[in-house]
Amino acid sequence: MEKQRENWGSRIGFVLAAAGSAVGLGNIWRFPYLTGENGGSAFILIYLVFVIFIGISVMIAEFSLGRNTGLAAVGAIKTYSDRWTFVGIMGVLSAFLIMGFYPVVGGWALAYIVESFTGLLTETPEAIEDTFVGFITGSFQPVIWMLVFLVLNIVIVAKGIKGGIEKAAKVLMPTLFILLIFIAIRSLTLEGAGAGIEFIFRPDFSEVTGATFLAALGQAFFSLSLGMGAMITYGSYLSKKETLAGNAVIVTALDVGVALLAGIAMFPALFAFGMEPAQGPGLVFVVIPIVFSQMGGIGVLFGIIFFIALAVAALTSSVSLMEVVVAYLIDQRGMLRKKAVYGTGIVMAIMGVLASLSMGVIGPMPVLQVGVFDLFDILSDKIFLGLGGMFIAIITGWVVNKETLRAELTNDGTIEFKLFEVWHFLIKWIIPPAVAIVAVVGIFDIEQTAVMILGLVVVGLLAVFSRKLN
Ligand code: PFF
Repeated sequence: MEKQRENWGSRIGFVLAAAGSAVGLGNIWRFPYLTGENGGSAFILIYLVFVIFIGISVMIAEFSLGRNTGLAAVGAIKTYSDRWTFVGIMGVLSAFLIMGFYPVVGGWALAYIVESFTGLLTETPEAIEDTFVGFITGSFQPVIWMLVFLVLNIVIVAKGIKGGIEKAAKVLMPTLFILLIFIAIRSLTLEGAGAGIEFIFRPDFSEVTGATFLAALGQAFFSLSLGMGAMITYGSYLSKKETLAGNAVIVTALDVGVALLAGIAMFPALFAFGMEPAQGPGLVFVVIPIVFSQMGGIGVLFGIIFFIALAVAALTSSVSLMEVVVAYLIDQRGMLRKKAVYGTGIVMAIMGVLASLSMGVIGPMPVLQVGVFDLFDILSDKIFLGLGGMFIAIITGWVVNKETLRAELTNDGTIEFKLFEVWHFLIKWIIPPAVAIVAVVGIFDIEQTAVMILGLVVVGLLAVFSRKLN
């Protein structure tokens, strides 16, 4: 009986940690606005296909590499082959890039906790929209909030991830889930919600392009925290008793569930209020306050709880990003944890200030034609994570011994993994070319060609020179 409970406890702990990393701004902020920009349900369908046929398999691969070696990303890959270690380094760079803009949005969520009880939710829909634009294009306020969010990360990661954040997540993640269900019901029952339901459930492929596929693939990897070794690192903490494949399916299901719920919560309301679906990054910060503003006093309370929960969801993801960098500096560079965290934090703070200001005073850069925020976003999500996922599939399928993987995934033959052959076939033969095709088609289709070229050059240089870095 004792034993049973212990097992339960550890499994829940792991699933929560991995789901905490996966469920974040990617689901609630990014997924709905990408869906809005990419025409709705056709995008959702493509995204789901990628999650099921690519995402789950890559997650199983990452868990296997991590648990098999007991090491974080760079060390794990190095165990199998020196030549591929650059993929781990790419992961560290991805973590930096994502942490260059993620805290900016995390800061917006923090600011909106305060905005919720200082009158935002009593304003008209138009004023709520103006408030958001005014806020993010400002200089002082968004930068301060970004720094507050980053400092929270620094404090948590400096202490080691376990502890307070886990406790907060255990309460607030279910709260967020329940709130989203509640908002979804409210949203679905608004007058004029039908158009929104159609938008997310009736596929219209007329606007699908190569860029749509690339966006969906990038979102699948981003949302599941794949392609950069975060899940390798988490896998390295997993006990030998756990079923890796089963855990991967649970984490994926939770992640997709929250994303879809966020979409169902937002689009019916958005159409009901006659707004444009292609709102861009402001979607959740505009639509959710508008829904709450229609509810009177209780709406203010919901607003506060929603943005606290959003900030915590963001935090449980961003600490895993920071940990990827810190674990690398500790394991491979022999740094002390505190020094690694503070050094990393300073670099991320500079990136974050630039990203935040690029929403307003700085604006787009020459040649690249995008702002710093978008640069970090596009580089990580459309290039690094996808290629990282492809390389991880190649390493798993072609470099790691198949029988080692079979033993890992069946816990040395003590449990069954009926789909092992299917999984191995996918990882070896299907996923690498599939990702490559999506990447190539997307690259030709995307507007930010200069950014794409820059990203590919960086990956190429890393592949050639990173052996010197190990
Ligand atoms: N999955 C997180 C989200 O959806 O917000 C973002 C993320 C976390 C991406 C950790 C990558 C990662 F390693």
